[in-house]
Amino acid sequence: MCGIVGYVGKRQAQPVLVNCLKRLEYRGYDSCGIALLGKNLEIYKDAVRIESLEKSLRPNSSHTGIGHTRWATHGKPSQINAHPHTDCSGKIAVVHNGVIENYLQLKEQLTKEGHTFRSDTDTEVIPHLIEKYYQGNLEQAVSRAIVDITGSYAFVAMHADWRGLVVARNESPLVLGVGDKEYIVASDVPAVLDYTDRVIYLEDGDIGVITENALRCTSNGKQVERTEHRIPWSMEEAQKAGHEHFMIKEIHEQPRVIRNTYKGYISALEPVVNLGIAKNTDLSDILILACGTSYYASLVGKHVIQSLSQIPVRVEIASEFNYSDTVLGKTWVVVVTQSGETADSLRALKKAKESGCRTLVITNVVGSTATRIADETLYITAGPEICVAATKSFIAQLIMLYLLALAWSSAGVRSRAGLITELRQLPNKVQELLDREEEIAEQAKYLARYENVFFVGRGINFPIALEGALKLKEISYIHAEGYPAGELKHGPFALLTPDTPVVALAARDNTYETILANIKEIKARESPVIAIAEEGDDEIDKYVDFVIRVPRVDPVFSPVVNAVALQLLAYYTARERGCPIDTPRNLAKSVTVE
Ligand code: G6P
Repeated sequence: MCGIVGYVGKRQAQPVLVNCLKRLEYRGYDSCGIALLGKNLEIYKDAVRIESLEKSLRPNSSHTGIGHTRWATHGKPSQINAHPHTDCSGKIAVVHNGVIENYLQLKEQLTKEGHTFRSDTDTEVIPHLIEKYYQGNLEQAVSRAIVDITGSYAFVAMHADWRGLVVARNESPLVLGVGDKEYIVASDVPAVLDYTDRVIYLEDGDIGVITENALRCTSNGKQVERTEHRIPWSMEEAQKAGHEHFMIKEIHEQPRVIRNTYKGYISALEPVVNLGIAKNTDLSDILILACGTSYYASLVGKHVIQSLSQIPVRVEIASEFNYSDTVLGKTWVVVVTQSGETADSLRALKKAKESGCRTLVITNVVGSTATRIADETLYITAGPEICVAATKSFIAQLIMLYLLALAWSSAGVRSRAGLITELRQLPNKVQELLDREEEIAEQAKYLARYENVFFVGRGINFPIALEGALKLKEISYIHAEGYPAGELKHGPFALLTPDTPVVALAARDNTYETILANIKEIKARESPVIAIAEEGDDEIDKYVDFVIRVPRVDPVFSPVVNAVALQLLAYYTARERGCPIDTPRNLAKSVTVE
């Protein structure tokens, strides 16, 4: 979604804002803009990337400013629709993330009252409302303006006559970085890491008044204190460290991420996983809710938890659950969300809580909104993930779901011990695969020529087929679909031709023989087949065109190595096609609107 930033403090605001916007670009990159305090407000904005905007900036010594990187919801990307938006006088500027649901009524009313609008955005009503209520005090005007607004927002407002910022939040993320005689406002943590690791998260309904030396927070007119958190991520982690793209850097971090995620939860002395989460004695079932890649991780989690703990598990896409009559009994609701800010997942989490369910969130971001709603939180410690397409957070989510299954496993001590030993070997196995990435890059040259690809898998690897297809389509723009291997003949077979390659996940579990049969059926339709198969499986070579080898692991962990192989395949295919891998068109890392 959109990224907002604001700066008040001892430094010159312009370079700080530009730097923060570059760090937030993964949230939206249709357009961008900044406003700086001067005699009047100095505003630069356009439907360009931040690097281009930067070239048009004139030197400015102001210490106060705001900035925005846009992911269009209302109005196409254009100079007029780019933020900051201003009021009629041009003295008030606002950057906003979220959706103002009643903006059409507000616009009509304000127009009757003499306000003139220039853009197609919902945001533009905010500066005009503030102008309507402004009587010399920006905080009071913002407090009054938000009474009229319905919808989600995190916005920063500034006034040409005052060296400070006013921020407000409702259902959209807002972080305040706390430095020495400075504050940095941002939608997400990576934006502030160059300046501080101390952050404060505002709550829904909060208004913050920020000057160089002070932050004052109010909620419903009363002063409130908000806790300061320390972010355990370093600045280096949020940079490319010599890699061509964040995506490949993040793929390569996965052995460490796996280790970090299980470290601390597995006893060194006995085969026990302790997450510090007690199992309800009267638990009837588990419902996992998630969106996007997190949803696919949850589908793998369902297989593992069910098979190890014998507890029934359902998985639903959060945005669908929000409009469904899903029956919740003594259900334990687990929400999986990398960012902890996805609007649909937050709404689902609230709905589950209101139904009286115990709730757990699995997330990567300390202090994110989801952690403040859920009863319990498990952190996946993947570190900052900047590429829009999720990789290391997906693998870390898988590991956390394995840990959950193992913690509640009803399997005997011996088989649990065996699985824990296997889990500990996973970082090395993934490293072995990464060391052979050149081989996968070769296969990618082949795949890059096609426009339609199917991914098939069975059982625990069906979700990996879905994830493989998602990765390929989002970064290479090749149309890709994931299918359960047995379903292909119920329709998609009509699309199979020599120009439709199929990537088949052939795990050595109880699905192996059937998937071989499915591969033969596909080959009979003359589609090229690339198999993802484990080392030592020579049988598969007889039936397919290419084989991508993955290290041998216990079949229950095959989703991990298979997913990494498909990440590399997607990455190198997109690279071969010259795509903007870290920032694919039309996408955003954190989707904060429903
Ligand atoms: C966006 C991102 C995906 C992510 C999904 C869910 O679509 O581009 O990579 O999987 O949101 O995000 P979450 O933060 O809830 O895991």
